[in-house]
Amino acid sequence: MRVLVIGSLAGELGQAARMAIARGARIDQADDVPTALARLRGDGRIDVVLCDLAHDVVGLVQSLATERIGVPVVACGFNADAESAVRAIRAGAKEFLPLPPDPDLIAAILQAAAGESHILIARDPVMQETVRRAEQVAGSEASVLISGESGTGKEVIARHIHARSRRAGGPFVALNCAAVPENLLESELFGHEKGAFSGAIARRIGKFEAADGGTLLLDEISEMDVRLQAKLLRALQEREIDRLGGSGPVRVSVRILATTNRDLAAEVGRGAFREDLYFRLNVVGLRLPPLRERPGDIVTLADHFGRKYADVNGLPARRLTAAAQQRLRAHGWRGNVRELENTMHRAVLLARGDAIDLDAIELGSAPVHAPVPGVATAVPANPARVDVTVAERDDPVAPLVGRRMEDVERDLILHTLGHTLGNRTHAATILGISIRALRNKLRDYAAQGAPIPPPPTGIAMPLHDAQLAI
Ligand SMILES: Nc1ncnc2c1ncn2[C@@H]1O[C@H](COP(=O)(O)OP(=O)(O)OP(=O)(O)O)[C@@H](O)[C@H]1O
Ligand SMILES: [Mg+2]
Repeated sequence: MRVLVIGSLAGELGQAARMAIARGARIDQADDVPTALARLRGDGRIDVVLCDLAHDVVGLVQSLATERIGVPVVACGFNADAESAVRAIRAGAKEFLPLPPDPDLIAAILQAAAGESHILIARDPVMQETVRRAEQVAGSEASVLISGESGTGKEVIARHIHARSRRAGGPFVALNCAAVPENLLESELFGHEKGAFSGAIARRIGKFEAADGGTLLLDEISEMDVRLQAKLLRALQEREIDRLGGSGPVRVSVRILATTNRDLAAEVGRGAFREDLYFRLNVVGLRLPPLRERPGDIVTLADHFGRKYADVNGLPARRLTAAAQQRLRAHGWRGNVRELENTMHRAVLLARGDAIDLDAIELGSAPVHAPVPGVATAVPANPARVDVTVAERDDPVAPLVGRRMEDVERDLILHTLGHTLGNRTHAATILGISIRALRNKLRDYAAQGAPIPPPPTGIAMPLHDAQLAI
């Protein structure tokens, strides 16, 4: 992960940079906003920008928006700079990092910006077979279409393929086609020349060129609009791209991996996805099994997440007791590995003593899809009577039916915050939302008169929490 720091590394910002380096980030530094913008235009691989409030963060955020450069900006400064921080956030900065920096916050910010960690775990034979297939095709230049439900590890396996390929020494660049607004996607992919549109004041390199010599992962490819699909197909066929407003093609050597959590063949069938592009991407298809189809991975993944979150939170690594392992194995996991990840993050925070025991394992919802093989489920004698009773007894979602979505969400957020003892960063990570989104919700709840757990004392408190007194 690459971080561009704007400002002097001599003081507290340097301390933040060192913490980021300790977490595996690579740091670039620019003395001012114009230099940083020049760097960002020429290098599509910067994942996040940390900008000292002493610099023009608002101007930076505005320039990035008009030049269609989609990189998150984190404003950094002292709580005394309250007004400039609020202005930066209003202008579109993603987060505010109070200085001196808190290692937990740095970790959370880097994690949010980077997406996720990249260790691949495969203990279950079903998953091992998937990995074997991935490794078999890794060394070729073939495009691979990775399909699977949300959170099944599509990005993890894409990075694995890259790492095992002849391009491993080159860049791995990912672009989420669903997360980038449609009008930015073309410029993000292909870059643009000065004057291509009204905000294009200088040339900008797109992801294709940034991935030159390496691998480009196109996430959620089904969300790309048909016009852009045509341009992508041309780029793949010709092995060259046209920057927006460019005068001639630019040759690129890029291997494409794409992911989808929709049935792309069905999208082709209903005319939403080009068939020729589908065949081009799907030279090799790789389906990632949902967690419920690979129970043998559960405990190994849980151990891995236990270590990861102990590290993130600066806590000692603790093993899972046999009873806790059994509880995790017996739970009816759905597909998304993040559900297990969140359970373990919670467990790491809630555990007491030198092991993670049953009392720290709080499981979310019960099986909604198929039950885990090998785990007994009651088969009622009279199927006609089944639904209501089983649903009401075993399905924790059933009692929620009849309540408003908004109310359920509020209760979940406030309960989670209670569990993290008011720590916003941890609560946001567990909930899978940004710290900013969490704060916005809390502000709304406070305005409605709901009691909000206060932030823990003695911990660096994000500025707007203090400001808004929530
Ligand atoms: N086999 C695995 N080994 C280790 N971690 C995993 C594995 N599979 C998933 N994870 C973890 O689960 C989370 C989700 O994985 P990932 O982002 O790769 O899934 P995805 O299929 O790309 O999700 P989405 O559909 O939301 O894009 C990440 O934190 C990742 O590290
Ligand atoms: Mg993904």
